[in-house]
Order: sequence, then structure tokens, then C-alpha cells
Amino acid sequence: MKVQLYSFDTLTKDINKSFFGVKVLKDAQISVKPGEVHVLLGENGAGKSTLIKILSSAYKKDSGQVIIGGEEVHFKNPKEAIDQGISVIYQEFNLNPFVSIYENMFLGKEYLKNGMIDEKKSIEEAKKHMDRIGLDLSPRTLVSTLSVAQKQMVEIAKAISYDLKVLVLDEPTAAITETETKKLFEIVRELKKQGVGIKT
Ligand SMILES: Nc1ncnc2c1ncn2[C@@H]1O[C@H](COP(=O)(O)OP(=O)(O)O)[C@@H](O)[C@H]1O
Ligand SMILES: [Mg+2]
Repeated sequence: MKVQLYSFDTLTKDINKSFFGVKVLKDAQISVKPGEVHVLLGENGAGKSTLIKILSSAYKKDSGQVIIGGEEVHFKNPKEAIDQGISVIYQEFNLNPFVSIYENMFLGKEYLKNGMIDEKKSIEEAKKHMDRIGLDLSPRTLVSTLSVAQKQMVEIAKAISYDLKVLVLDEPTAAITETETKKLFEIVRELKKQGVGIKT
């Protein structure tokens, strides 16, 4: 896996966000360094999802900064955040159920050959990332046939197929079993070893 060891101290600084005049985030800060695993704790409605959506620019902040490697960034959309190595996996997932695992993984960054999708290469590459996290399925499997835990693993395989710096998982254990949770934590430990910063 290609993971750049990027030295950044702060990811968000003084983030403020209100919805309809109600302040949800007040000067929110999160800081992650490569190889660190953090847990963002707070009761329901505390603003955890809002903060990570601001990080990926799915939501616009009212004020504050998102900083990576000491530089303020201004992502226009979540795709730009992903391109800069910030991957957020939401509870509701972002997969197309009607296509295969590999098609989901390379959506928007397809391997091409003579202007056509290079299926062989796509499947090989998908398998490579899936093997890294022990996702033992055919890359051709239709996503709609997968369990919640398997869909989550596909999201992680997709995230590590980018030059990943920070992986954010929103309530990753909410809908999976204890055994699946253990496996997820093993993957998190493995990514940590490889220098990815992780927020859950
Ligand atoms: N898109 C939205 N529009 C209006 N209010 C929202 C929106 N998203 C979140 N909120 C509100 O912001 C607060 C924080 O929500 P959220 O970030 O989802 O909390 P958490 O993830 O910590 O449970 C809640 O009161 C929620 O109702
Ligand atoms: Mg939430």
C-alpha cells in the first residue's frame, strides 16, 4: 500500500457550525498524526458526524480551518478530499449496490485500455487491496449481495486504493457483530502500522 508519511499536526481548527441558528460545533479541533488512532466520543447529536462531514467538505463550515500538513485546504467537494488522502466512511455507505465490488472501488478512476475499461487490470488491482484487509470475495461480487460488514470492508478497500493519509469511520461498529468488530480493529491496527491516521 502506498501511504505517504505526511507530518501534519492539526486537521481542524476552531470549527464553528450552526444549523438554523442552533450552534452545533463551537471551536471544534481535531488533530491526527500519521499512525495514530483516535476515537471521537460524544452523545447522540453532539456533532461528531457534522465535524467529519466538514472535514471532507460534505458540509460547509461557518468558520474555522481544515489544515493538512501545516497548510489550510479548501476542498470543494468530498472527491477533492479523497484525492488529498482524506477518506470518510459514513454509516450509510456510498456504494452503488447494482454493480460489482471492483466497479465500486474504481468508480471515477477506472483503469482504461484503448478507451475501454480494463477489466482484467481492475479486478487484479481490486483483489490486491481486498487481500490486504483479508476480504476474501471475488471482486466481481455484486455489492447488493454483501452483508453490512462486507460493505464496510469494500469501503475500506476502496479507501486504501487511494494514497490514503487519514481514514475516518463514522460509528463503524454500530451495525456489525462482535467478531466482525474484532476483524475491523485488526485492520485498523494494520493500517496504523502503515502510517495511516484513523478517526472513528
Ligand atoms: N443537515 C442538517 N440539517 C439540520 N440539522 C442538522 C443537520 N445535520 C446535523 N444536524 C443537527 O446537528 C446536531 C449534531 O448532529 P450530528 O453531527 O449528526 O451528531 P452526532 O453524529 O454526534 O450524533 C444534531 O442536533 C442534528 O440534528
Ligand atoms: Mg453521527
